[in-house]
Amino acid sequence: MNKLLLWVSVLSGLLEVFAQTDMSGKVFVFPKESNCAHVTLITQLEKHLQNFTVCLCTYTDLSHAYSLFSYSIQTKSNEIIIFKPKIGEYSFIIGSEKIFFKVYEPFPAPVHICASWESSSGIAEIWVNGKPLVRKGLGQGRSVGAHPMIILGQEQDSYGAGFDKSQSFVGEIGDLYMWDSVLSQEIQPVYQGVYSKPNILNWQALNYKMQGYVVIKPLTWS
Ligand SMILES: *[C@@H]1O[C@H](CO)[C@@H](O)[C@H](O)[C@H]1NC(C)=O
Repeated sequence: MNKLLLWVSVLSGLLEVFAQTDMSGKVFVFPKESNCAHVTLITQLEKHLQNFTVCLCTYTDLSHAYSLFSYSIQTKSNEIIIFKPKIGEYSFIIGSEKIFFKVYEPFPAPVHICASWESSSGIAEIWVNGKPLVRKGLGQGRSVGAHPMIILGQEQDSYGAGFDKSQSFVGEIGDLYMWDSVLSQEIQPVYQGVYSKPNILNWQALNYKMQGYVVIKPLTWS
């Protein structure tokens, strides 16, 4: 590569790292089952997490298993996963340990989901449409690793890769936020669309990379 080309690619790489898009009123549409279509959410998270909350909106008519949020680190592909094994059930994985939550739900229907975890108690919470499911616990005392690869649309079996078509997501995802703290009183405002300082991922200043067949469209269902 000549020097100019090299600089252009270094600069565009830098722009990619710092590019932030306000995705308000928009969603990622994953139109088709595949083993490649996905969105990587880029964050500069350099510390381990003792607490976190992730919220997002989703609309899908899939009835088989799929991943909603896949957070892997170099040494562990299943560091955080929010997974939907089937209708009426969610599962939450921290550091490969898994727990299940039952939910009474209409299908298909748009869903707003928040998942949080607190290391000191190990307590995990899932809130669906602003209502808490029965609390469970896992991974008490551990912490979640830094420098994550966060992927929507596919479940990672290795850092940023190892996708399985049969677990791919087909549908729409929007309004994704992540905090390094446990939200509890604040879940209701988030459900109403008021987001207090999301410091890991912010849908209104999102840094992402789309790969494969993924389309950005206006939100039509929330
Ligand atoms: C995590 O939450 C616990 C209890 O809510 C708190 O005591 C602790 O300071 C928090 N840790 C960090 C790193 O924010």
